[in-house]
Amino acid sequence: MIKFLDVSKSFSGKGETVHALQHVSFTIEDGDIFGVIGFSGAGKSTLLRMVNALEKPTDGHVEIDGQNIDTLSHSELRKVRKKIGMVFQQFNLLESKSVYDNVAIPLVLNKTEKSAIHARVMELLEFVGLADKAQAYPSQLSGGQKQRVGIARALATNPSILLCDEATSALDPETTDAILRLLEKINRELNITILVVTHQIQVIQQLCNRVAVMEHGNVVELGSVLDVFSNPKQDMTRRFVQTVIPDRIPDSVAAGLKAQKTPYSLLRIRFLGDNATDNILYHINTVLQVETNIVFASVCELQHTVLGIFIIQVMGDHDTVQKVTDYIDSQNIQWQEVHLS
Ligand SMILES: Nc1ncnc2c1ncn2[C@@H]1O[C@H](COP(=O)(O)OP(=O)(O)O)[C@@H](O)[C@H]1O
Ligand SMILES: [Mg+2]
Repeated sequence: MIKFLDVSKSFSGKGETVHALQHVSFTIEDGDIFGVIGFSGAGKSTLLRMVNALEKPTDGHVEIDGQNIDTLSHSELRKVRKKIGMVFQQFNLLESKSVYDNVAIPLVLNKTEKSAIHARVMELLEFVGLADKAQAYPSQLSGGQKQRVGIARALATNPSILLCDEATSALDPETTDAILRLLEKINRELNITILVVTHQIQVIQQLCNRVAVMEHGNVVELGSVLDVFSNPKQDMTRRFVQTVIPDRIPDSVAAGLKAQKTPYSLLRIRFLGDNATDNILYHINTVLQVETNIVFASVCELQHTVLGIFIIQVMGDHDTVQKVTDYIDSQNIQWQEVHLS
């Protein structure tokens, strides 16, 4: 378990102070694939680097498995760092060394026996799908292959935590997908807790079970990916989520709606999991006898759960719409009124 306890970090220099992190508190449980998302400069890398004490908090502290890592001696810290692997955006491979030797680096540094190194490196290359590239050099590899080497190297010492700093940001979409699947496999099969920091919302959507949204050094939203994506609270989160899960009426449809003279309201309804849309609309139409039109719909899968977003036009005056929203509330379904701008 990784705990950030009221962590702040300031960098001072040239007469100005940057507050890279401000009172950040949250917990990453064992087995999580925890995502931190934010724009460039939000403080994500600073936060990630605190986990292996490459950065120290100005205030507050970081705990790993109950140990305050900011107060550890050098030798204790070295022990903790062995449990933590790190993957970088630019791969950080040694160009003059073969794939095999790159992956072996942490083992050599740990003074592992040569035969054990060989077995471990080959096992890792097999795991990341590069067994046939052991003798190749980084310059002969694609970006995705380089990142696989970076990942194999990060796993060499059998860590229980993997830190990924923008691990897919230098890759094309297809390669990104493949690397995300590899990270998921690492989490599932090797039981490794993963912390990813990224500015790519797709990474959070496809990979993570929990997410923290960061802005100017603050965590502005935190929760399960399912909760945050299905009901984003902050503007910034909404903007991120909208890029992968649209929830707005297309302009041409909006123009048609604006031209209508009869009274109506627009309701955005979110369904999670096995909530059935059909039954809701059927009830509204036949039991409440209110006419509805679906003016927008999107369905996506998150964390193996279906998220459906519908915008329905409810025909009628205020009282009629009230009847409908009371019914939707009674079904414990989230809704919001949508206003055309
Ligand atoms: N070593 C440093 N010295 C001075 N400022 C830094 C240092 N590291 C990061 N910063 C500043 O802290 C803020 C957060 O940086 P960073 O954690 O790298 O953000 P992100 O990874 O979200 O892009 C930025 O304003 C950055 O310029
Ligand atoms: Mg960064």
